[in-house]
Order: sequence, then structure tokens, then C-alpha cells
Amino acid sequence: MKRVIAIYPGSFDPPTNGHLDLIQRGARIFDELVVAVLRNSDKTPLFTVDERVEMLRECTRHWPNVRVESFQGLLVDYAKKCGAQAVLRGIRAVSDYEYELQMAWMNRKLDSSLETVFMMPAGAYSYLSSKLVREIASLGGALGNLIPASVERRLRTRLGVAPQASK
Ligand code: PNS
Repeated sequence: MKRVIAIYPGSFDPPTNGHLDLIQRGARIFDELVVAVLRNSDKTPLFTVDERVEMLRECTRHWPNVRVESFQGLLVDYAKKCGAQAVLRGIRAVSDYEYELQMAWMNRKLDSSLETVFMMPAGAYSYLSSKLVREIASLGGALGNLIPASVERRLRTRLGVAPQASK
């Protein structure tokens, strides 16, 4: 029987519960899910690629059909190397749609055999992003239920900011 492999690519700087929610949903419908952290992004990251891979591996080790890798270059080339037939991306709100659609069209232009599949995370994560997580953590805000505890510990250490007492 044909096994369907999907790639879930991203920056994951840092991974959030929204990412994990999507990984869980993807792991339920695909035979294998490769979470792929982009190397060589033009963004200046807070965590190195190796740290992000390590955090994601820690948080996904209980899902046997999920593996975490890093990649560089074109996503379509990496997908081919993995034998993946689909790219998984999350759409939180309409505002994500334009950018995601543009990427999906471009990836289809580059490789028409690769399908992009969009999934929605749980509503509780519809406003969550790694960028906001970094900002809140740097200002000492509470991040309960938005990122895994192991990621929060690394984030606080990296930023050297203790959380303020919750109100
Ligand atoms: O989490 P992000 O930053 O939104 O993820 C963006 C990502 C990694 C999916 C995208 O930048 C990507 O696929 N980069 C690889 C290079 C590539 O293939 N570029 C053309 C995409 S249309």
C-alpha cells in the first residue's frame, strides 16, 4: 500500500503549542510526517537550527511517525529527497492566507507533483506566533499554555528574563 509522507516546514523559532497542535493533526492523517526546520533563513534567529531541531524532537518523541530534520535550499528539492508527496502548512486566520497561497502556488510551479495541504490549529492557538512568543518572553510576560514547558525554560534562559507573577 502507498505510504503518504508529508513535510511540515518552518522556522520554529521557537516551536509553539500551535506548531505541536498541527504536528499532531498531520501525524493522524499522514503515514509519516517530517518536521523540517529551515537552515539559511534570512531572518536572524533567537535559537540555532540545532537547538530548534532538539526542542522539536523533545516535544514530538511520543509520536512514532514524526521525525524532525533540518533542510536548506528549495523545499521542493528537500521534499523529493524525502519522498514526500505533500507539504503541510497551518492557516490560523485569513491574514495567513495570502502568503500561504503564494508559497503554495510557487511550490506547485516548481514541482507540480507536490501538493500543499492546509490545516487549522485549534482555535485557542489562532492568534499565536513565534514572533509574539519571543516578544512576550523578552518583556517578562506569562506564556502559560502557549509553548511547551521545556521550550519556555530555554527561552527564559536565552533571554535572561524571569516571568512576572501572573495577575
Ligand atoms: O515558518 P515560516 O518562516 O513561515 O516558514 C517558511 C518556509 C520555511 C516554509 C519557507 O521559507 C520555505 O519553504 N523556504 C525554503 C526555500 C524555498 O523553497 N523557497 C520558495 C518557497 S515558495
